[in-house]
Amino acid sequence: MLKHHDKIERNSIILLILTVVVISIGGLVEITPLFRIETTIEKVEGMRPYTPLELAGAKIYKREGCYGCHSQQVRVLRDEVERYGHYSIASESMYDYPFQWGSKRTGPDLARIGGKYSDEWHTRHLVNPRSVVPESIMPGYKFLLEKDAKIAKIADDMEVLKKIGVPYSEDMIQNAVSDAVIQASNDRDGEVLLKRYGKKVNIRDFDGNPQKVSEMDALVAYLQVLGTLVDFAKFEPLTIKEFNELQQNIKNSQSSHQPIEPSNSNLNNNNGK
Ligand code: HEC
Repeated sequence: MLKHHDKIERNSIILLILTVVVISIGGLVEITPLFRIETTIEKVEGMRPYTPLELAGAKIYKREGCYGCHSQQVRVLRDEVERYGHYSIASESMYDYPFQWGSKRTGPDLARIGGKYSDEWHTRHLVNPRSVVPESIMPGYKFLLEKDAKIAKIADDMEVLKKIGVPYSEDMIQNAVSDAVIQASNDRDGEVLLKRYGKKVNIRDFDGNPQKVSEMDALVAYLQVLGTLVDFAKFEPLTIKEFNELQQNIKNSQSSHQPIEPSNSNLNNNNGK
């Protein structure tokens, strides 16, 4: 064996070829499972695509580089779970393009920020963080109050997201602008929005200025929904047995060319446990 090793080390071409072979094996082991993404994302109740207003807010979040200081992933570590709440699960970021997990935390993780503070707190904090957290080093974003949220073209974004698998319906895309306006106001009837996006939609004037739909409205609407969609009181991770059943179901459905749909017993609600 050592003799062969000697040969390999002296011949750069063989060394190169063998190195590539060894690295490819590692690559395949890591990458191949991702082609079967349905096995890596757990199905949960409650996840829905962002509403048009929240989507506009998500774009502002990326534009302003909030991810440079904030992550959106609660790690499976005790101190993190105690500080932020339930650890993040894959399906919570399944409609984020790109995902905002991040590794830099100059500020706290924001994966579960939704509902932690009032809209007024967020607005004041974004205008001037020092007004609510005196020792804060976060920059202010006062201009968000003055700028109109770009909702006129948000339907285009939804079209694109739909192409890559986000389940926006024609109905949602066609009503994007009016849905965004309704979500940012106190006095309009939000029934249509609830019908389209489910019960967990915050409908109110987020920035305290009913005259317009500002970028502040959009960003706060986005922050307020983060981490609130999945009901973790009902969430239970799959047991090994359930996971194996799920895999078996997927195999069966593939051999019979059925769409992949795990049976209800594999969902993460607490099935009487
Ligand atoms: C230079 C780094 C930096 C940037 C950029 C930044 N933040 Fe922060 N952020 C912080 C720090 C530090 C804190 C903790 C102090 C505080 O609450 O202000 C914080 C706190 C927060 C909090 C409160 C979190 C909590 O749990 O109390 C929110 C919400 C927030 N930031 C949102 C944003 C948004 C939205 C953006 C982009 C528009 C942004 N931040 C950009 C550094 C930053």
